[in-house]
Amino acid sequence: TIPNSIAIDGPASSGKSTIGVRLAERLGYLFFDTGIMYRAVTLAVIRAGIGVDDEEGVTQLAHRVHIDVRPPTVADGRKEDVLLDGEDVTWAIREPEVEKRVSKISAYAGVRRAMTELQRRIGKRGRVVMVGRDIGTVVMPDADLKIFLDASLEERARRRFRELIQRGEAVRFEDVLAGLKQRDQIDSSREIAPLKPADDAVILNTDGLSVEEVLKRVFELCKDCG
Ligand code: C5P
Repeated sequence: TIPNSIAIDGPASSGKSTIGVRLAERLGYLFFDTGIMYRAVTLAVIRAGIGVDDEEGVTQLAHRVHIDVRPPTVADGRKEDVLLDGEDVTWAIREPEVEKRVSKISAYAGVRRAMTELQRRIGKRGRVVMVGRDIGTVVMPDADLKIFLDASLEERARRRFRELIQRGEAVRFEDVLAGLKQRDQIDSSREIAPLKPADDAVILNTDGLSVEEVLKRVFELCKDCG
């Protein structure tokens, strides 16, 4: 039978959303990227002038903001539209200012509680490919298929760097690498829902593999995925 719910986890730039989108397309499922929610909260925190160390303020805001995700209405390479209190923030949440702070904010228990609840609700509807850090372990522990995508830091930094350059951002490779490294470190060492493979996840190392090659393996894992 075709898995009804699929969880994809892994470190930053391991290809989770690229693979997740393609898998969801193939199955006619909803693709849901949970990283977007933590990014949107972080953007809201910055805009509200709340300090990232102000756990109380950050947590309150996380419960107050309204995050919406819908299929893309603009063809500029986006995988979805992200709305923060009704405003299109699809690209704003990918800015370095957000990226620098997101891991700190997503380590807060109250922030995770708010986001996890929304994600579980979406997961329960089924026919979903959900990607993040704690989907197989916390958000959808009963997912029918769990994939943990991994790749070396250098390879992920190279992919990420290429992506940013293509998007026209002026970045330095060393900074991209350092940013990923720091985020992974915080994400994997936090107390609540750290980044780690679920016991029953299939770990796929994608070093040296093209998107098509990774997809082929994912489709093999998901025999009836077509
Ligand atoms: O996946 P993405 O790089 O967009 O995620 C941004 C950040 O959001 C991660 O570095 C992590 O701190 C947080 N995140 C999380 N749990 C998830 C998804 C993302 O803590 N399920």
